[in-house]
Amino acid sequence: MSASGVRVRELARTFEARDGTRVEALAGISLDIEPGSFSCIVGPTGCGKTTLLRVVAGLLEPTAGSVEVGDAPVTGPRRETGMVFQQYSLFPWRSVLDNVGFGLEVRGVNKPERHARARELLELVGLSRFERSRPYELSGGMQQRVAIARSLATDPDLLLMDEPFGALDERTRHRLQDELLAVWQRTGKTVLFVTHNIDEAVYLGERVIVLADRPSRIADDLSVGLARPRDRVAPGFTAALLRVRAVLEAVMQQSGSGDTEPKTGGTDEERPDSRGPACCGR
Ligand SMILES: Nc1ncnc2c1ncn2[C@@H]1O[C@H](COP(=O)(O)OP(=O)(O)OP(=O)(O)O)[C@@H](O)[C@H]1O
Ligand SMILES: [Mg+2]
Repeated sequence: MSASGVRVRELARTFEARDGTRVEALAGISLDIEPGSFSCIVGPTGCGKTTLLRVVAGLLEPTAGSVEVGDAPVTGPRRETGMVFQQYSLFPWRSVLDNVGFGLEVRGVNKPERHARARELLELVGLSRFERSRPYELSGGMQQRVAIARSLATDPDLLLMDEPFGALDERTRHRLQDELLAVWQRTGKTVLFVTHNIDEAVYLGERVIVLADRPSRIADDLSVGLARPRDRVAPGFTAALLRVRAVLEAVMQQSGSGDTEPKTGGTDEERPDSRGPACCGR
């Protein structure tokens, strides 16, 4: 499947907590993501990164504004959008093979076909030997590779990734970053990748978007024009890193530390996601 771009216009999303207080997670966000590009989003905790991805995925309705993917308005979960969530979100009772094949099963693909596709993807992420394992038998890095394989199974035209490597040690994280880049370069999918890690954003992204809260806005949008594979000790890399860090620090100071109000729990406003995206909810 070819890649789809994303067009976000004046997007706002407000949550109402159980005690009636309102949290403005996003307000007035406009953004264009080119088809086939790799964009990273960084920002202080609670600034609305996950909310933005969930709205783009069609899992949450905007309070105001619009989102288009591939020129069509997003009105609900899209089959062609793949998502990898902040927490591992594998089905514990399913084998690795059946986790990867889940999205295909939902779409009615027969067993031999979905197993064949799942095996291809497990080979891609280096987990062929573990197809019969259950998720709890795998390390965190391996589970996240299963989640990535699963998100690719339905051949999405847009891949939304929410801190997929956040819980991993540095070495595993670096390895998975390279694996993900190889997949991206091979498939040419559009990737929107949220991370707290500036090094990761500059290593992966063609573009690093810094999201700020209070007020909600895009504080910086940096084109990282460095050749790949990127060299973490090259002067250009360090310069990009320092720029993103400076913007982020300024944003955090404005928002009063970066530690924002705690999550209040769901408000039953989410759209059902049984039709997709390719992964299950968090
Ligand atoms: N379902 C919800 N109900 C009520 N408030 C919510 C809900 N989801 C998010 N929020 C609030 O919206 C704001 C943005 O949350 P979001 O999860 O998008 O932040 P984030 O940038 O992804 O943070 P983190 O970096 O910690 O993952 C926060 O103040 C959060 O408490
Ligand atoms: Mg988040």
